[in-house]
Amino acid sequence: MPAFAVIGGQWGDEGKGKVIDYLAGRVSAVVRYAGGNNAGHTVVNDKGEFSLHLVPSGICWPDVYGIIGNGVVVDPEVLMGELNELSERGIETDKLCISDRAHVVMPYHVLLDRLEEESRGNAAIGTTGRGIGPAYVDKTARMGIRVGDLLDPESLRPRLEQTLNIKNKLISAVYGAEPLSAEEIMEKSLEWGNQLRPYVHATEQLVQDLLEQDQNILLEGAQGTLLDLDHGSYPYVTSSSPSIGGACTGLGLNPQAIKGVLGVYKAYSTRVGGGPMATEVFGEAADAWRDMANEFGATTGRARRVGWFDAVAGRYSRQVNGLTGMVITRLDILDGFPSVKICVGYRANGQEVSRFPSDTRVLEQCVPVYEEMPGWDEPTASATSLDQLPQNALAYVRRIEELVGCPAQVISTGPSRDETILVEQVIP
Ligand code: IMP
Repeated sequence: MPAFAVIGGQWGDEGKGKVIDYLAGRVSAVVRYAGGNNAGHTVVNDKGEFSLHLVPSGICWPDVYGIIGNGVVVDPEVLMGELNELSERGIETDKLCISDRAHVVMPYHVLLDRLEEESRGNAAIGTTGRGIGPAYVDKTARMGIRVGDLLDPESLRPRLEQTLNIKNKLISAVYGAEPLSAEEIMEKSLEWGNQLRPYVHATEQLVQDLLEQDQNILLEGAQGTLLDLDHGSYPYVTSSSPSIGGACTGLGLNPQAIKGVLGVYKAYSTRVGGGPMATEVFGEAADAWRDMANEFGATTGRARRVGWFDAVAGRYSRQVNGLTGMVITRLDILDGFPSVKICVGYRANGQEVSRFPSDTRVLEQCVPVYEEMPGWDEPTASATSLDQLPQNALAYVRRIEELVGCPAQVISTGPSRDETILVEQVIP
């Protein structure tokens, strides 16, 4: 019963989309288990370049199921837009399945996300503004609307009216904004139900059946471990569990089915939104790095913060997820740097901090302790085997492996499928 996970080892945007598209040819299904359209996964292959937010990144493989599990929150408008665009570009979408238990991101969630962020002022989280947090709040408060509810207008109407009644009080009395119309949302919901109906299934059963037939499935992580609601730098986190635990609850997956957990790490660090990032680089050096690497969000277009590889955080992610291997992406971005730094520890208030702190206030005070290594001039871009890597680049990879504590099974040297070094087969 083999399931293999691909998980973000940092703050998201590690390049998981490419890795998943690359590995999807070896599996029967690619399955999203958490998050929503706050994610932005870029896939580049012989069919073109695709920016996916909800549709699983294996969609370009025609025989592979794309499953959106119960742990995902679905904005139907965004999903339908993505499906239409894929169809127009000749990609078949008939193997997409959406869990009837997945919660729906409703228009009031998107509005509340914005209003809540505005009210936080300087303490804003820097959310993607896609309504993700408020949708998970309602799920936990047991007042969410699920995809299955969209198919049953009779029971949907009273639930929607009751919920909107509460939300509108919040929207107008607390935030002073215009209330939303129940009738308009009901109309939209009916339309969404009709459009999504062919895709809606009890996906946990599909996942369980595939595993019982000994088919490989790939668990597609979104965001990253350091944005995990429980294990990230709270409150500067997303509202779901991108780490491996989220895959079990977000799919109805038995943990014993998971045979490999691959952590994806960029060769340096990026973060979008607020919250501590010990190895952040500032000023002109950061601007030049960001422009050269095109580090702008795939979902919001926001400038990403950039910095050196943080091995303390990387090791922590390895432990939280029980990683069996890692993928190092964007190594080519460091080509031509005179030297490269790795954060091997922190110091806070004159004390050594050797583990990733749970208290965000401590993390905010952490100053990185760096190890500096010589850079390399020869390109790693498009390399397809380890012996094509300059010696210093290989030494950098080896040091990251050592510090994080697991082997680099894949190294990505460019955006397309063939710009990949497969050091060790990940999915047998
Ligand atoms: P939310 O998930 O939109 O609520 O945003 C919460 C935090 O997670 C913010 O700092 C976002 O920038 C960050 N975030 C959410 N999704 C992603 C992602 O896919 N990549 C990188 N950052 C993300």
